[in-house]
Amino acid sequence: MSFRANGYLCIERITTDEEVAWLKGIYDQLFAERAGEKEGLYYDLAAPRAHKGRELLPQVLGPDFRFPELRESQYYRNALKLGTRLLGVDEKVTAGGHMIFKPARYGAETPWHQDEAYWNPDVHLQSLSVWMPLDAATVESGCMQFIPGSHEEEVRWHRHIDNNPLIHGLVTDDVDPAAAVACPLPPGGATFHHSRTLHYTAPNTTANPRRAYILVCSGPTRQRAEPAHRPWQADEREALAKANIDVEVF
Ligand code: NI
Repeated sequence: MSFRANGYLCIERITTDEEVAWLKGIYDQLFAERAGEKEGLYYDLAAPRAHKGRELLPQVLGPDFRFPELRESQYYRNALKLGTRLLGVDEKVTAGGHMIFKPARYGAETPWHQDEAYWNPDVHLQSLSVWMPLDAATVESGCMQFIPGSHEEEVRWHRHIDNNPLIHGLVTDDVDPAAAVACPLPPGGATFHHSRTLHYTAPNTTANPRRAYILVCSGPTRQRAEPAHRPWQADEREALAKANIDVEVF
């Protein structure tokens, strides 16, 4: 079963146990520091911006700004090498990272979505996301689940979680979860998925944290004749302005 046919691929290992152990230290430090919160690089994906409650699905964007050595990791190099091959582009492919944390017992679901729904509507993309767990990822802790073949279709209608545009996380209702395929993985394994592949992770109901480090690999973009219609993006910017929350939306 191929990436081209399914829109995703799972591999049992992309880096060493030693590197996973090293990455856990960096990961925990970034979340403890809430690294880049002022610049809009740290927030809860599943709750309104600047909320005061416990963090349901915190995210750190650009962890390599704080720790440039991440770009020298085997994970980064292997993800970029394999990602380039899977994208099938000859031009230069770049990688950008983020980390999504599902706390033990109450980490929220990441509802069904396509990554491209978040991204620049002005261009055609050549992108895929690499997702590596630092902890055992099971259905119960929030491993990746995909809808095979969904990458062949357009970006579907999305809305913000709870219909609240102050929540960055998006969800599409246009999906049949019965068609989902789960990809449980050991720490240091990885999934690759196309920017249009529908995917989901369940809430973490286990006693262990579920730490994931994601790299988005992107080849050159091409300008669209007309921007894609993704009004949920403007809804979020307007809601933030109205609430006087001055962050850039990444
Ligand atoms: Ni995603």
